[in-house]
Amino acid sequence: MFRCLGIETSCDETSAAVVVDGRDILSNVVQSQIEIHTLFGGVVPEVACRAHIETIVPVIEKALGDAKVALADVDAIAVTCAPGLVGALLVGVSMAKALALAAGKPIIGVDHLHGHMYANKLAFPDLPYPCVSMVVSGGHTSLYLSRTEIDHERLGSTTDDAAGEAFDKVAKILDLGFPGGPIIDQLARGRDASRVRFKRTIPDGLDFSFSGIKTAVLYHVRGQDAKHPRALSPPERADIAASFQEAVVDILVEQALKACERTGIPTLAMGGGVACNTRLRDKMNVEANRRKITTYFPPPRFCTDNAAMIAGIAYPLWRAGLISDLTLDAVPTKIHRK
Ligand code: KG4
Ligand code: ZN
Repeated sequence: MFRCLGIETSCDETSAAVVVDGRDILSNVVQSQIEIHTLFGGVVPEVACRAHIETIVPVIEKALGDAKVALADVDAIAVTCAPGLVGALLVGVSMAKALALAAGKPIIGVDHLHGHMYANKLAFPDLPYPCVSMVVSGGHTSLYLSRTEIDHERLGSTTDDAAGEAFDKVAKILDLGFPGGPIIDQLARGRDASRVRFKRTIPDGLDFSFSGIKTAVLYHVRGQDAKHPRALSPPERADIAASFQEAVVDILVEQALKACERTGIPTLAMGGGVACNTRLRDKMNVEANRRKITTYFPPPRFCTDNAAMIAGIAYPLWRAGLISDLTLDAVPTKIHRK
């Protein structure tokens, strides 16, 4: 039996979890910082780091307490070490190192994006490999050919904004609040998504681009005269939100299914916060079904940032001998394993 304590602090959620053999979740504590960042209309890195510092110890204590496992009884400590806000990652990595040193436990550095993909294994233990994986979050929008839980070859990714970032920025333009994704998802339900036809930029390959849509929404909202923007009625605002969401969903569906067709792999596993989006789930499922592709969407609590996916993926990493040491670094952009 492999009992792992996982720690996740890459962005604005402080999370700790205990997972057994990469499958059984004994606890998964997620402390969101949304309330603090709402005051600023977005994630402020320094504020995020300070909030992690304040909450990390109670969150870990609760995760161990909920799991009824003492630190002395865990077999390893897994921690997100890349990518993310570097100051935020440092809080988790430093904490994990301190615990590993004090309790004499091995430490396993985890790539956050691999964690998002592993969320599928937590929810669907029978997920077949190879599969095409898509991570759509606030910081990333990428497609992978996944050969195993820990072997992911990148097929394409965004060349500018991430999909979640576009949701958050458009919500700001429309004065809807933060984080924009869930607000737009809710507001768009039952609205006229054909009211504004935002141009879908779909590259020939498997990359993505969302900054054009974001700018198109800005110009549409401002009208011709930036100094005297038009007043939008609440229904008009909701229709614009729905039209924007429809454009983003169309791009994600098109590229994900193109990746399946080009690789000849009829299985698509979704991950990341934007995979919570109800319109994306509906449209992806319908279009995939039409092309005989099977889709996997983990439940929302596993799509957004959580430590269960980190403690979970530690098991196959452990079995493959991919264990780190106390020189483990926090890297904002890519995995760095020593
Ligand atoms: O995976 P995640 O929790 O953190 C990152 O790794 O970035 O994703 C957060 C992102 C935010 O941009 C948020 O607006 C978006 O996921 N999001 C959604 C929905 N729920 C969260 N976007 C669209 N629809 C949703 N229902
Ligand atoms: Zn994430």
